[in-house]
Amino acid sequence: MPRQLHRPTAPSQWWQDAVIYQIYPRSFASSGGPIGDLPAITARLEYVASLGADAVWLSPFYPSPQHDAGYDVADYRNIDPRLGTLEDADALIARTHELGMRIIIDLVPNHTSDEHVWFREALSAGPDSPERERYWFREASTDAPPNDWTSIFGSIAWTRVRERDDAPGSPWQDDPQWYLHLFDSSQPDLNWDNPAVHAEFRDVLRFWLDRGVDGFRIDVAHGLAKDPELPDWQYHWTMVEGSDADAASVPPPPMWDRDGVHDIYREWRTVLDEYGPDRMLVAEAWVSPGDRLAQYVRSDEMSQCFNFDFLSSQWKRDDLRAVIASSLRAMDAVGAPTTWVLSNHDVVRAASRLGLSHTGKGPNGIRATDEQPDPELGARRALAAHLLMAGLPGSCYLYQGEELGLPEHTALPDDVREDPAYFRTKGVEAGRDGCRVPLPWRAQAPAFGFSPDGQSWLPQPPEWAAFAVDAQEASTSSTLNFFRRMYALRSELALGHGGLEDVSDAFPGALAYLNTAPADAERGDILILTTFDTDVSIPEDWRVLLASAAPGSAESTTWLARA
Ligand code: GLC
Repeated sequence: MPRQLHRPTAPSQWWQDAVIYQIYPRSFASSGGPIGDLPAITARLEYVASLGADAVWLSPFYPSPQHDAGYDVADYRNIDPRLGTLEDADALIARTHELGMRIIIDLVPNHTSDEHVWFREALSAGPDSPERERYWFREASTDAPPNDWTSIFGSIAWTRVRERDDAPGSPWQDDPQWYLHLFDSSQPDLNWDNPAVHAEFRDVLRFWLDRGVDGFRIDVAHGLAKDPELPDWQYHWTMVEGSDADAASVPPPPMWDRDGVHDIYREWRTVLDEYGPDRMLVAEAWVSPGDRLAQYVRSDEMSQCFNFDFLSSQWKRDDLRAVIASSLRAMDAVGAPTTWVLSNHDVVRAASRLGLSHTGKGPNGIRATDEQPDPELGARRALAAHLLMAGLPGSCYLYQGEELGLPEHTALPDDVREDPAYFRTKGVEAGRDGCRVPLPWRAQAPAFGFSPDGQSWLPQPPEWAAFAVDAQEASTSSTLNFFRRMYALRSELALGHGGLEDVSDAFPGALAYLNTAPADAERGDILILTTFDTDVSIPEDWRVLLASAAPGSAESTTWLARA
């Protein structure tokens, strides 16, 4: 029996069915030097538009000491001089719009950099000052930190002010307090119980809305509201996946996914609405189950949230089937579009992750001495996964390089690593540098054309020549050209607005869905068929529209229309 999972939707907001391309500015393209920059992005936006992207999302470009690759923001109203200027940002926004795309920028409200003026003022002003009330400073009666919270990047979540590198000889050299940081010690957490923090971020939103941005990706959206008592909580919350603990046996976390965060997003919604109905917010919230996540996208809060359950799913029929159904159910319950995502700058790239013996969210980085992914299997499954997700209703996020089938760098030498997770876990975790290696644009150029002078902040593997954009442009059978055909067809058929029926029971071992036509679309149902370890015969009376490998062969996806 077909199971209806989702009804077709009428177009109302641009992000409902958008393909959104994530640009990681440090690693996209450079106009000179080892770090990518905004003018080089602007110069290559046509490439992004040629994929069929409706919008770009830029990871942070703000002034930053770059202790966490820019997620440590020192000034929310400017551009890091290594990446460009505000005029460059204006030019980038204008060019994106000229090409018919929207632009989403990253906002990091959970913490600032320790070089932000507020934190410098807080250090100087000392205990009991209003400056310290913008963060979480506490004293402890013993030499132990104020509570047992751990940093997402490893080790304790507190640093003693007087043990900072800049303490000797400073006014805070004998300071009795500690400060909280759920990430690196250079990323002090803001105190969202303080109205001054609210006022500041409302103003920052308006600063960028006035410059024409269409939306914000909200970093660590589930972290802002803390229990002011800061009670002990001995459990662990993992990046991207969220809690790995059995929810029933664990007390609610005093720092993650607390109800208070929703007041903040309601407040922001009213700010965005001042600019009309077209500005959006997307939540990076490591929250499950789906009905908790859905609270972030109720009609008076954010517009979308990343679907990390999909990203973290095992590459197995039953797991994916359950995630697809529960994602649509949870988002439909609040009237928000479902999103689909496989990769970003925090996880091992899908083309490698899906080639490991254990799929799912994967390890935090892969080293040369770790199990190496099977590159053919990973690439084949990643393409199948993208064709599956592009066939589902909702919106797709694509991380730069996925359209090239780019794998993870799985053999970076440890001495080039920059991820704070590598240092804070004392090398137990390799960290995220392997998915952040600068893109290959030209097969024969130094640094594969990432920068004109051949510099690149991380080394690229030699085998990336085959993945370079120019090599793939030249071949009709390349992954790059496959992505272009896929998104063009998705748009032509309005698959993002389709309904969805699960017909997998008729295809043992495979996943099969009918994407049913929205009201005004002149098409019939489209069958989306994803296979796993066995071949499946293509049903009679259906013709192939697009396939990630031989139609129906193991580890593939095929789109079909009635013959
Ligand atoms: C988000 C970002 C990640 C960063 C962290 C702390 O999870 O995606 O890259 O390290 O927030 O800001």
